Amino acid sequence: MSKKPLILGIETSCDETAASLITENEQGIPIILSNIVSSQTDVHKKFGGVVPELAARSHLEKIDWIVQKAINDSGKKIDEIDAVASTAGPGLIVCLSIGLSFGKALAASLNKPFIAVNHLEGHALSPKLGLVLNYPYLLLLISGGHSQFLNVQDLGKYKRLGTTIDDALGEAFDKTAKLLGIEFPGGPKIEVLAKKGNPNKYDLPKPIFNKGGCNLSFAGLKTAILKITKNIKTEQEKFDLAASFQKTVEEILHKKTKIAFKEFEKQNNLKEKIFVVAGGVAANKNIRSMLINLCKEQNYKSVFPPIELCGDNAAMIATVGLEKFKQKQFNNLDHPAKPRWPLDENAAFLKGAGVQL
Ligand code: KG4
Ligand code: ZN
Repeated sequence: MSKKPLILGIETSCDETAASLITENEQGIPIILSNIVSSQTDVHKKFGGVVPELAARSHLEKIDWIVQKAINDSGKKIDEIDAVASTAGPGLIVCLSIGLSFGKALAASLNKPFIAVNHLEGHALSPKLGLVLNYPYLLLLISGGHSQFLNVQDLGKYKRLGTTIDDALGEAFDKTAKLLGIEFPGGPKIEVLAKKGNPNKYDLPKPIFNKGGCNLSFAGLKTAILKITKNIKTEQEKFDLAASFQKTVEEILHKKTKIAFKEFEKQNNLKEKIFVVAGGVAANKNIRSMLINLCKEQNYKSVFPPIELCGDNAAMIATVGLEKFKQKQFNNLDHPAKPRWPLDENAAFLKGAGVQL
């Protein structure tokens, strides 16, 4: 039995300081040995959103012991690590720089390869933790900063089929929560409030529902909700608005996913049709069950990461590190932090007023 690679992953792109050690089993499936995530919710709560300078300071304070704890909890020794993989982008540059510099320094001191990881690729590969997932697959990436349909053809080979032209879906959840007076980070709480409300009470807009292929738009929803919240008086009306928002989002994703299925099928000669949903919003149970049902109807195999791996973590960064390590795709120690780093570098920039769909 040959020695299996031991990869340390480090993630500091936004407001989670995270480190993880992973290896793989005999079938080549990535296995988590330790996965430490320290969230900064308390630091940012009173500001109603992430404050970059404070986030960076918190990463700096915690990075040493988080990495140390990940090593201790894995039962391995530091000199058994075969490569260090750090998130290099996209994200807040002051935050990225911390995990990136730490990872480079550790790799250099251990005399082991360094691997710069795209955070979005981490989300894209996160379902590989614990199961065999073959390329190609269709990915719906729904997080706080991104909402995209991607044709994942191979490691590092992505073709974007659709993207949001304004807000990301997680951002829409967070903004709606804020308008409803829910404390930051409110996105996950919408789902809870929605259970108590009437989803048909408010008729919310579905921007670009009937045009723009599988591109998405959520900014109009926020504006409509702002208007409604001005007249909301009771708790029940809040629940009804949360439920109406949740329902509208599900209807948008249902329609756009069906369009994405068709485009994905046109681009690939498929033996098996696989649909992966990843990113923080993939933790939303109603969105999950709606998409699982759609997959059954359309003959797709649906794959979601476990709920605890939907949000930001370092195990997903180490997973990309493991795949790249096996292909000897290493990076130099002068690799820059990349605040903007699309998975499909050839896709057109589709944000802002005047976008042609
Ligand atoms: O992937 P992630 O942890 O960070 C980014 O890379 O952005 O995603 C965070 C986003 C936040 O906007 C959060 O509100 C949203 O995911 N989120 C949810 C749920 N859990 C997290 N949105 C809706 N329902 C949830 N259960
Ligand atoms: Zn993320």
